[in-house]
Amino acid sequence: MNAYGAAITGVGFCAPPGVLTNEDLEKLVDTSDEWITQRTGMKRRHIIWPEGTTSDLAVPAAKSALQAAGLAAKDIDCIICATATPDYPFPALACIVAAQLGVQGTPAFDISIACSGFVYALTTAASLIRSGVFRSVLIIGAETLSKITDYTDRATCVLFGDGAGAAIVERADEDCFLGADLGADGSDPSVLYLPGGGSKFPYNKNGELADKRLGYIKMQGQSVFKFAVNQMAASTRNALARAGLTTADIDFVVPHQANLRIVDATIKMLGVPQAKCIVNIAEYGNTSAASIPIALGEAVESGLIKKGNVVVLVAFGGGLSWGSVVWRWSGAPVVRAHLQRPAAAAGAGAH
Ligand code: UT7
Repeated sequence: MNAYGAAITGVGFCAPPGVLTNEDLEKLVDTSDEWITQRTGMKRRHIIWPEGTTSDLAVPAAKSALQAAGLAAKDIDCIICATATPDYPFPALACIVAAQLGVQGTPAFDISIACSGFVYALTTAASLIRSGVFRSVLIIGAETLSKITDYTDRATCVLFGDGAGAAIVERADEDCFLGADLGADGSDPSVLYLPGGGSKFPYNKNGELADKRLGYIKMQGQSVFKFAVNQMAASTRNALARAGLTTADIDFVVPHQANLRIVDATIKMLGVPQAKCIVNIAEYGNTSAASIPIALGEAVESGLIKKGNVVVLVAFGGGLSWGSVVWRWSGAPVVRAHLQRPAAAAGAGAH
């Protein structure tokens, strides 16, 4: 029995101004706009300036979410960042963000579960609020995947982009958390991973990291594809069952934006009409933990998602991992942050 309700009261999001188009990628690797469009649905991705860090995106997204919720950073009881690309392996990105928001002493930690991170963070935040531990939690999904993307590997470099999205989750009379399903299967990490920089291939040991390009995302694309379609549909069904709902009750699905074909196949398996599915992959590519809050932010901003709607947020990613949350939309405002490249970085290339 939960003591309290939880509601999202503000959303913020941003993407860096630099853009990498399919035509730009044609100049880097043996690919084509036609192949990328047909196989992924992607046209552009936003790429951070060379000196940029994930906190450069996470902080504006967080400030925007605070503004939308009408709160100051000091009003927040806990900060959770979902990211696979923190500024440093440690300390946590959330600690850096807290300091840049001007708060000291606020508990702050990261969730490391790749593209499923925002769904895990929302479930964690809602649980902390519903149990009475905290009254307000700032959750952020932020990534600079361009920093770990191998721009000589056509199988991966066309997919990834940078961005951040954030939400304020607060104690509320009406509980908007209706159900969730989280899961993971780590039996073969190499299906989708960043090999270098951990204890297996530490940065400090010989030249192996650079020689084998271990500091870049490695992926078995087709295996991930099959896993994604089956698991996103199954996870959505599990979360709906826990909420006591069926697919007919869904007003909108906000899926992780990994590949348009994965999204289309998932909602087809669920029997959900395409008009109920939020897709912005053409503009942003796959921004991992940031993709769901950015898509959610744009859908609320455009007036598509309205107060009272039943929204399913569903993701999959490295781990392998998956997760879905069924959430009643309480009509929270959204603020988009318009980022400028800092003056000191002006004149440098897009990536
Ligand atoms: O957040 C999770 C992150 N990862 C994912 O979501 C990835 C999930 N997987 C996918 O999205 C798809 O598997 C990809 C988009 C990565 C690849 O699409 P696919 O339809 O599974 O292509 P494929 O791997 O079966 O490759 C088909 C062909 C191959 O050539 P051959 O062997 O048929 O001659 C590839 O070498 O396409 C080739 N290919 C490319 N051609 C042009 C692979 N990448 C490219 C490219 N441009 N960028």
